[in-house]
Amino acid sequence: MEKTLDKIVNLCKNRGIIFAGSEIYGGMGNTWDYGPVGVEIKNNIKRAWWKRFVQENDNTFGIDAAILMNPRVWEASGHVSSFSDPLIDCKACKKRLRADNVVEDYAKKHNIDVVADLMTNEQMQDFISEHKVKCPYCGNSDFTSIRQFGLMFETSRGVTDENQNKIYLRPETAQGEFVNFLNVQRTTRAKVPFGIAQIGKAFRNEITPGNFTFRTIEFEQMEHQLFCKASDGAKFYELYKQKARQFLLDLGINPEHLRYHDHDKLAHYALSACDIEYLYPMGWKELNGIHNRSDFDLSQHQKFSGKSMMYTDQITNESYIPNVVENSIGADRLALAILCEAYDEEELADGETRTVLHLHPAISAYKVAVLPLQKSLSEKANEVLASLKKYFMCAYDEAGSIGKRYRRQDEIGTPFCVTIDFDTLEDDTVTIRMRDSMEQIRIKISDLVDYINKAIVF
Ligand code: GAP
Repeated sequence: MEKTLDKIVNLCKNRGIIFAGSEIYGGMGNTWDYGPVGVEIKNNIKRAWWKRFVQENDNTFGIDAAILMNPRVWEASGHVSSFSDPLIDCKACKKRLRADNVVEDYAKKHNIDVVADLMTNEQMQDFISEHKVKCPYCGNSDFTSIRQFGLMFETSRGVTDENQNKIYLRPETAQGEFVNFLNVQRTTRAKVPFGIAQIGKAFRNEITPGNFTFRTIEFEQMEHQLFCKASDGAKFYELYKQKARQFLLDLGINPEHLRYHDHDKLAHYALSACDIEYLYPMGWKELNGIHNRSDFDLSQHQKFSGKSMMYTDQITNESYIPNVVENSIGADRLALAILCEAYDEEELADGETRTVLHLHPAISAYKVAVLPLQKSLSEKANEVLASLKKYFMCAYDEAGSIGKRYRRQDEIGTPFCVTIDFDTLEDDTVTIRMRDSMEQIRIKISDLVDYINKAIVF
């Protein structure tokens, strides 16, 4: 079975997982809306991450910071001066391209050993001219010179047209954690090392969005910042590399579809940085970033805000600005990886093929689907449904043959189907059918909640 991105996109569109944004108006480039099934899947992913990196993590505290922040934050963080990509325009077809991608794609294709990340704009420009690199859209080799393109979305704040101040939509959630370092430390009395985490929207005016929800201009990030002593930075960096990978494995991702990629070019403040890449249908791509950021973030905020970010160790009396180890992953990018991983087309004994999402039950949109064998059993089925709905998201389907109804649930990854039949009326038992093995067992209605609850723990 060939697993293509097109197949995933079609399933998402037809089964209420993800729709094109503003579709009835012809869409709005690279924005996506999660449908009834997709919103549940994405919420479950965010819940699983929160459970792992806040609830079960030592000394970690959650926050939910504002998207709009004082613009000085973005000066301190370095985003105003340097959050940009090298942009190049094709003069023939007017397409906008990232110069580093143009160089890298050409080098890969022709087995040339260069790393675009390590090249200056001038070096990339020379490479493109020297090799007469062609535009991937129209095949011409006539480009503008490379210039840096700011990736932050700007908006304005002010009550009158004349009195507007430029502000930004946050390009990462991390700064919300850094600017709340003092608040969280003071109110929780946390001792270093401790973590601050949040999940929220981020916005980037990407030059080359695409590959469905992989790279979009509006997305959600799940970020954890660990504040520690400088001497512990390397240790926690290694620990979070492991923790981040383990989380992905526990979600059901095949270890052969994950790899670490150490950054060739480090940001000036980063001591080390690494991505965990996932083998998407379009190739290996960044999924999760882990960064040892030194004391850059808090030092910069101390400098720009004038507020001391010093932490004093009560036992040793040592005072210092903590270092940060960051673990950052996009919720949408992870949802896409999970959907790609779970997607399967299986040949059945009767010669039919079923499409199935082998999602971890904790991630599935609906934990159980209630299916009356015949419409005349719907009263009893609705009774069972009402008792299960108190505990988890449930689906209900009474249309079509039972086989078709199983297939519909397989396609959205529902781990259990409960069938109500005429015996149910007599003895209060039901058939529960497993998505992956398609095995069926008989069980008491009163045991259903416990049975399902055990299977959906993450
Ligand atoms: N605070 C660090 C930071 O933002 P990043 O590598 O730029 O680092 C972290 O982003 C993660 O956010 C990425 O690994 C990816 O999962 C996700 N991400 C970044 N840009 C994205 C985009 N345009 N669309 C979807 N997800 C994105």
